Amino acid sequence: MRTHFCGLIDEALTGQSVTLCGWTDVARNLGGVCFIDLRDHHGIVQVLVEPEQAEVFKVAASLGYEDVLKVEGVVRARHSVNDKLKSGQVEVVATKITLLNKAEPLPFHAHENAGEETRLKYRYLDLRRPAMQRMLRTRTKLVAALRQWLDARDFQDIETPILTKATPEGARDFLVPARLHPGEFYALPQSPQLFKQILMVAGFDRYYQIARCFRDEALRADRQLEFTQLDMEFAFVGERDVQDTTEEMIRSVFREVMQVELAVEFPRITYAEAMRRYGSDKPDLRNPLELVDVAALVKDSEFKVFTDWASNPEGRIAALRIPGGAVLSRKQIDDMGAHAARYGAKGLAYIKLGENGEVTSPIAKFFSESAFAALIAATGLHNGDLVFFGAGQTGTVSDFMGALRLKAGKDLGLVEDRWAPLWVTDFPMFEWDEEAQRYVALHHPFTAPAVDPTLIDAVADLRANAKTAVSRGYDMVLNGNEIGGGSIRIHRSDMQSAVFELLGIGAQEAEAKFGFLLDALRYGAPPHGGIAFGIDRIAALMAGTESIRDVIAFPKTTTAQCLMTGAPSPIPDAQLAEVHVSVRPKAPKVTE
Ligand code: AMO
Ligand code: AMP
Repeated sequence: MRTHFCGLIDEALTGQSVTLCGWTDVARNLGGVCFIDLRDHHGIVQVLVEPEQAEVFKVAASLGYEDVLKVEGVVRARHSVNDKLKSGQVEVVATKITLLNKAEPLPFHAHENAGEETRLKYRYLDLRRPAMQRMLRTRTKLVAALRQWLDARDFQDIETPILTKATPEGARDFLVPARLHPGEFYALPQSPQLFKQILMVAGFDRYYQIARCFRDEALRADRQLEFTQLDMEFAFVGERDVQDTTEEMIRSVFREVMQVELAVEFPRITYAEAMRRYGSDKPDLRNPLELVDVAALVKDSEFKVFTDWASNPEGRIAALRIPGGAVLSRKQIDDMGAHAARYGAKGLAYIKLGENGEVTSPIAKFFSESAFAALIAATGLHNGDLVFFGAGQTGTVSDFMGALRLKAGKDLGLVEDRWAPLWVTDFPMFEWDEEAQRYVALHHPFTAPAVDPTLIDAVADLRANAKTAVSRGYDMVLNGNEIGGGSIRIHRSDMQSAVFELLGIGAQEAEAKFGFLLDALRYGAPPHGGIAFGIDRIAALMAGTESIRDVIAFPKTTTAQCLMTGAPSPIPDAQLAEVHVSVRPKAPKVTE
């Protein structure tokens, strides 16, 4: 149908006849001549229609936005060069225009900033925009580079089932009724976790899969109901093997796709240190601000909130010094307080030191002069700085001071322009769930505890020290985003059973849910471990967008709907009956 692509026409083709196909980006009838910006997936070229070509001119003069055209013409040098276009040195003088499909008036135009709802409803129009085309192309390049890297290193690409049994990754499952087994359901995989472990038992040694995962959880900018992982597993490895290999892979794809050279060795910090210094298990190291613990410095003040938390073993009092922060107005400080409150802060104390050392602080009155001076010295406060204080339950303080750190870094323009990858290691094995009154796995229940390998009874050791046990899990973090998570797995069935038991999964339930895994671990399971990377998140970072929706062709809204197809939608009774499902009358809409 065509001989060339619009966006690739250049001076080298001057004098040649070409046939192009594409969309009318814009058509301008200047009376004397018509200009059409013809667009395809490579870009735009200017088509010129001269009035002498009466038939062609008639077609050109009637064109509207997004009409689909075939244009035949001759390439020639352009009078007024357009530097913004790759084809900007030339234009195509039309000899024939065929209107392949007339477009009706559009619900929105590519050149305007339409709302996200409209963009998602008419996603095909949205995706036609060059910015969107570019972002999805980045994703394609990322996946291609990953595959190429893995294929060259003897990783075997193996598909695992979509209709399967629940694999717990901490979210709710999507269920599919089994027509042939009335009352029974398949679950969509939250990840291929158990299958990849069993592939190691099966002797495949190195596995990968670009795997779709399904999790019924609250949606955010970095979370979708269905998303894509690069899922990997290795036999006979320790954590450094997995980390070093995948670090090299990530460096390689950044080099290839972005022409960016990431650090030769990613920094590594423990979970405990990350929470202490950054109030987050996915710290953005481009932000130079750090938290400092000050309980010991304020425990003798007159401020009851501080003294109470300072003496509480579950408590934390953290300070965040903001160099140059004295420029913050009262209103800006209040805004910071409101932001911290959204993350659980009950208040946000501060000390501001003006350019000449003048003190503004709602808590100065609670300190003796010398104690206050000591506090200023210990937090490293200089004239022109400001320091915030947060007191409360340890986890809550880390959360809101971590959130404050990010906001302050952004608002004051302190975030460096670079790529900051790192590993976070030594996660706690379990978290205590107050509501359920039991432990839950911080990563997932198949992650090995970091027990001393020389211990005769590692299982007894874990049972005795569950509260403080550290796991062999690790995350890769990039610019404050968790882009990958993995662990060394439990490869012995007695340890796996003990972990199930600690998680409140009794022997019977464990057998019913994970009997196949426990069996597999009994029949010669090698030590193994792996990791999964969030392809959507890496692609979004590479494409320079905040939301993974921009690198997913057909994403769901934050209310878990596809506005284009209208999914989810009611199913006729007859079809429900076929799969033995009846819907409860007047089921209320669920809001998360
Ligand atoms: P995890 O649950 O940490 O580990 O997931 C791995 C990576 O997948 C990405 N990710 C998501 N991306 C978009 N939307 C979501 N809802 C979403 N959830 C997770 C993140 C995350 O780092 N089976 C384990 C891996 C393993 O142990 O090997 C797992 O799924 O980038
Ligand atoms: P008050 O005397 O209650 O007005 O508090 C004095 C200052 O301490 C105010 O700036 C409060 O925002 C702050 N504050 C109160 N509770 C906390 C807390 N839990 N952590 C940090 N600052 C707090």
